[in-house]
Amino acid sequence: MTQFDFDTPTPEWLRARGTGRWHDVDPDVIPLWVAEMDFPVAPAVQAAIEDVVAKQAYGYPRDNGLKEAWASWAKQYEGLDVDPRNVSLLPDVLTGVRLAIRTYSPAGSPVVLPSPAYMPFWEVPGLEHREIITVPMISGPDGLGTLDIDGIEAAFAKGARSIILCQPYNPLGRVFTADELRPLADLAEKYDAFVISDEIHGPLVPEGRTVPFASVSEAAASRSVNLSSASKSWNLAGLKTAFVTFFTDQNRQAWKNGVHELEAEGATTVGMAGNLAAFTSGQSWLDEANAYIHANAVWLHDELARALPEAHFQVPQGTYLGWIDLRDAGLPDNAGSWLLEHARIRLNDGPTFGPGGAGHARINLATPRPLLIEATGRMVEAITHR
Ligand SMILES: Cc1ncc(COP(=O)(O)O)c(C=O)c1O
Repeated sequence: MTQFDFDTPTPEWLRARGTGRWHDVDPDVIPLWVAEMDFPVAPAVQAAIEDVVAKQAYGYPRDNGLKEAWASWAKQYEGLDVDPRNVSLLPDVLTGVRLAIRTYSPAGSPVVLPSPAYMPFWEVPGLEHREIITVPMISGPDGLGTLDIDGIEAAFAKGARSIILCQPYNPLGRVFTADELRPLADLAEKYDAFVISDEIHGPLVPEGRTVPFASVSEAAASRSVNLSSASKSWNLAGLKTAFVTFFTDQNRQAWKNGVHELEAEGATTVGMAGNLAAFTSGQSWLDEANAYIHANAVWLHDELARALPEAHFQVPQGTYLGWIDLRDAGLPDNAGSWLLEHARIRLNDGPTFGPGGAGHARINLATPRPLLIEATGRMVEAITHR
């Protein structure tokens, strides 16, 4: 028996939200792109936000217990030891990625980026005048891709001193194991490099738990920061609240010395209240959301296997994003644009994720099942009759 509603949102209701996923999308198009959820917000989170509104708490934010709440959630659900004094607020995770590149790697040193990668990761290093050394993901034990440790070592040997890690991995849906992550920590130690671990999708795992990078070894803890927020998992991205977690006093101090408070401020009272409620009272909703998303992914997998076997899709282990390989279906490199034109569904175009993206499209599975069924039907129909 489920307690929460994921099935009923209609396109009209979602369009009225006016946020990125449904904004500027033609009325006949089903948008399965921008990483927002098409679900009503968790009731406990919504109530906390309404409380802020009722109190008109729109002044400058102050500590509301969020750091402690994150620390207990991280311990309980990810086995990660967080000292709330080693957490610093941010407006969003991408700001944290940028500031971490600057703080924890020498000026001018290149940044390693596994590919395909979340689109803005291609832009952020440039804001710090850094070059990117691309290291394509390689095929992993379960077909969803894994880190190319030899390729990353070669990049460090060429002078890169930081890497942007995404755990769970957007867009491939991998949740890396400790055994996969430990060699990266060893490399960071060997080359005096730093791992910027974006774990914003951390709570989005239907089974098991996300392995936080910092938890895999001492080297990992001392050579990384963890960037996170409730914003993806509880759908609060517009409320602008995220945080960075340090695992050594030295790294906390380096951030304090290197980052001016004006660069990191921007978390909001509404966002902090939403994040607090998510970590303290949002888990039963998230468990159901994860199960619903997983069931969507299984349904999509089975349906494509039945109706469009040339499309290859594996059920993601984490995130609500899926990666569809349409190369054997004969679609052009920009498969997402083709689907927009011919099927009137909007997925993210593979090439925007960089090398390895051609002929792929990223699908957002945090969507009511009736919409997913309609969108998949359109995809199958358009490709079958092209
Ligand atoms: C891996 C990853 N990092 C960061 C972000 C953006 O987070 P923020 O809005 O907090 O910068 C996203 C959004 O989809 C994401 O998928």
